[in-house]
Formats: sequence, structure tokens, C-alpha cells
Amino acid sequence: MVEESPLRPFYTVLVLAFVCSALVAGAAVGLRPLQEANRRLDQQKHILFAAGLYREGGDVAAMFAPIETRVVELASGRFVPEEEVDPEGYRQLQAAYSDGRALAADQDPAKIRHLEKYSLVYLVKEGERTDQIILPVRGKGLWSTMYAYVALDGDLRTIRGVSFYEHGETPGLGGEVENRRWLEGFRGKEVYGQGGEVLLSVVQGGAGEGPDAVHQVDGISGATLTVKGVNNLLEFWFGEHGFRPFIDNLQRGGTSNG
Ligand SMILES: Cc1cc2nc3c(=O)[nH]c(=O)nc-3n(C[C@H](O)[C@H](O)[C@H](O)COP(=O)(O)O)c2cc1C
Repeated sequence: MVEESPLRPFYTVLVLAFVCSALVAGAAVGLRPLQEANRRLDQQKHILFAAGLYREGGDVAAMFAPIETRVVELASGRFVPEEEVDPEGYRQLQAAYSDGRALAADQDPAKIRHLEKYSLVYLVKEGERTDQIILPVRGKGLWSTMYAYVALDGDLRTIRGVSFYEHGETPGLGGEVENRRWLEGFRGKEVYGQGGEVLLSVVQGGAGEGPDAVHQVDGISGATLTVKGVNNLLEFWFGEHGFRPFIDNLQRGGTSNG
């Protein structure tokens, strides 16, 4: 009978650990494209939802197909040609840190701290006419950074819809920012006042009935601090450091042709 080496259990464990780690690493790498595809579909779903074009159970990729994805330079508001920045490969949130600029506290009501040079925007066209634009926005709530898409009508002042797709606010309190019934309150509200100032805001205690009502959305009870974060992000992204130059550019007749 051959005598068993005392090292045999050690080698067995080593080989088993090696095989298992190779399997786990292989699965992680192999599934990455699938995860990326699912993440992209989820984003598309929220963009469609903000635009009011999402149909439950429909093919998201097919619904998204007519939407044009473009890159915009935030400071100038100009469309950036694909040869300069490819929208397909552009990672906006990473770019805020790698290629963006630090925001001074007085420029940063949304508390995002770093602002990217370029932003993705999504255009819904009807022939040559832009029917709506969908803008990615983000800002600090009570506990977390909240991410959303805001769809603006072709008149460039009226909200078509809003979709919060990621946040870490408390479910049932600040987490109600993703409640579709509440989000419905944004539809038809106007962003800018007569002088071009950002007046769109969520009002705790309920929107008023006077002339300002067209800019006001009902609040969320028990979530005053999250709602303050929503107002701050609206103020920032519709303001001069956000999409205001882009909106002005479109208003002056800027085209999406480069
Ligand atoms: C466990 C816990 C979670 C909370 N989560 C939130 C939240 O997500 N958003 C928020 O605005 N307030 C949240 N609050 C409440 C705030 O602390 C604060 O009381 C509230 O924003 C005041 O708003 P109200 O005047 O609408 O009640 C939370 C409180 C507790 C105890």
C-alpha cells in the first residue's frame, strides 16, 4: 500500500481554491457585457419614462431607437461632433472627475462638487423639429446623490416628465422621489420665469394657486430635506453652469448638426 503524503490535503485545498476562483473570475468577466447591456436598457427605460414614451412590457430598445443621443459642451451649449466625443463610449460621471472642474461652493447648490465638460443629451425629433429634449441631472438629497432625467418640451420651458432612477433616500420618505404618481405633478410645469430665472420648485405643504402655480409641484410629506435637494438640483442644472447655455443655444436656433 502506498503511503499518503501529509501534504495531500493541502494540495487538494489549493487546487480547489484555484479552480473555484477561476470559475468566479470567469463568470464575473463573462457576465460583464450582459450587465452592461442591462444597465444600458435600464437607463433607456428611464429616459423613455421621463419623455412619456415608455410602454409597460414593450421592447425598450425598439422604443428607444428613434431617440438621438448627442454630446453637448455645457459651458458653450454647443453640440459636440461625434468625431470629437463619441456619445456611445462617453462615461459622463467618470468624466466629471477625470476631465471636469471643481465647483466652488457658491456655484454648487446641487453639491455635486465636480462638473464634467460635456454632457449627454437625448433628442426626440419629429421630422426636423425637436419635439423634446431629455437632460441627465443629479444632486445631493439627504443621504445620497440622486440621479434623474428631465424631459423638456420643444418650447424649452415646459416639463414633459421626470424620472429619478438612482438614489439612497429612505424608502417611504425621501425615496418617494421615484413615486410615479408624485412625478406626474411635474408634467406641464414651467421652468423659467419671465426674466429667465429658474422658478420651477417643489413646494412642501402643496403648490399654490396663484400665478406661481405653473412653476410649483406638490411636496413629499416627511421628506423636506430630500425635496430641498430636488429643488437644488433643478436650480443648478437649469442654471448657467448646467444646461442654460444649451437651452439658450437651441432657442437661438442652434442645430444638432454639429
Ligand atoms: C430613519 C429616518 C430616515 C429619514 N429619511 C429621510 C429622507 O430620506 N428624506 C428626508 O427628507 N427626511 C428624512 N428623514 C426625516 C428628516 O430627519 C427630517 O425630519 C425631515 O426631513 C423633516 O421633514 P418634514 O418637515 O417633512 O417632516 C428621516 C428621518 C429618520 C428618523
